[in-house]
Amino acid sequence: MSLISFLIALAFVVLAQGASVGQDERLRYDNYSVYKVKFETQEQRSFLKKFVEDRDNFRLWQETKDELHLMISPGAFSEFESQIQKTNVSAKVFIGNVQELIDSEDEANLKASRDGSFGWTKYNSLAEIYEWLDGILATYPTITESFVLGQSYEGRTIRGIKISYKANNPGVFIESNIHAREWITSATATWLINEFLTSTDELVRNLAENHDWYIVPVLNVDGFVYTHEKDRMWRKTRQPSDISTCVGVDPNRNYDSHWMESNGASSNPCAEDYGGPNPFSEPEIQAMADYVSSNKDKINVLLAFHSYSQLLLSPYGHTDEEFPPNFDDLMEVAKAYADAVESLPYGTTYRYGSSAGVLYFATGATIDWAYNEQGVEISYTIEFRDTGRYGFILPPVHIIPNAEEALVGIAALIDKCQELGYLELK
Ligand SMILES: *[C@@H]1O[C@H](CO)[C@@H](O)[C@H](O)[C@H]1NC(C)=O
Ligand SMILES: *[C@@H]1O[C@H](CO)[C@@H](O)[C@H](O)[C@H]1NC(C)=O
Ligand SMILES: [Zn+2]
Repeated sequence: MSLISFLIALAFVVLAQGASVGQDERLRYDNYSVYKVKFETQEQRSFLKKFVEDRDNFRLWQETKDELHLMISPGAFSEFESQIQKTNVSAKVFIGNVQELIDSEDEANLKASRDGSFGWTKYNSLAEIYEWLDGILATYPTITESFVLGQSYEGRTIRGIKISYKANNPGVFIESNIHAREWITSATATWLINEFLTSTDELVRNLAENHDWYIVPVLNVDGFVYTHEKDRMWRKTRQPSDISTCVGVDPNRNYDSHWMESNGASSNPCAEDYGGPNPFSEPEIQAMADYVSSNKDKINVLLAFHSYSQLLLSPYGHTDEEFPPNFDDLMEVAKAYADAVESLPYGTTYRYGSSAGVLYFATGATIDWAYNEQGVEISYTIEFRDTGRYGFILPPVHIIPNAEEALVGIAALIDKCQELGYLELK
């Protein structure tokens, strides 16, 4: 062995060891707290968002029309307080210790894993979801069909399942877990797949058999694996940036539709809503776009699952001065979903409206791209439970109630679409 090749081999050994040590460690969030910061003006909002973008010890969790939810490291508390004063906003803590929630989630997952089954009393990993999917495909070979969107940046396969009981059904596409930390979304998507195949309830049979379902349980596969193995609070993709040490792009700002207009995404690679260096820079989003555009004639309805906030959001994301041509219908359909959820005994309420109207400007999102560029006239972002008690770390006991709400909500939504003439074959 020459000296050079010896050194190269040595370097590999060192690198490999470094990586494996790194992989065993999960980031801890001891004494990190999450605050609801109420703002009144857009200046306050932009100021606070800018302030948290570049700081490791602050992380944006969620935005609503008049609130930012910010996670703060224990060491940054005094800096946070002085910013709050400087900006004239009020802040209220709603999670005192993020690690405590992660620990109890781990415990629940561990306990439910002991019996070895898949199930919906815990959050499953990507490997578990894919193994379960293989079982489903093998059990229902005539009704189900596997499809592949493509490969992620890190080379993982992005898989989907089509459920079709008969020819000439209208199509419903469900995108899930585009944001890595929103675990309730893939848990709900897999529960729905199971219900469509196994339920004997008349409402479910009707829904399952008279529509074709295209369901992608985990779109952001790299980010999802990263949330399980390294950082529970990760949101974005995992592709490095050419211009920054910050990793990843907000995949739900990366579609080529009004991309980066109206401050609807950040151009800062460290921001949680970074739109990317260019539209479709993320292979996962390019793959999703390719699949949807080549199947758009079969897709009547597109639903993108997110958490949290309990909202249904429809186009547009880029303006609140103009509304899409069928806005009244979109509101009626959203109301049907919200009313159905409310009719359940859980007492959960959903609000609805256009993304830009109810929340803030957001561009390059799945639903806007599907609506604006692919002619999918019914497309919604659905933000599941809760409204901030647990946020992204929703305890597993919520999985089935949340999924039941999604089921009755979607059934009512589809019914309303039928009534309004949106389920005709294209
Ligand atoms: C978290 O805060 C508590 C109470 O202030 C303290 O006792 C504990 O050492 C802190 N934990 C860590 C890991 O900093
Ligand atoms: C903050 O509020 C105080 C008192 O209401 C006011 O005097 C001050 O101008 C405000 N500052 C900003 C930056 O809005
Ligand atoms: Zn999301």
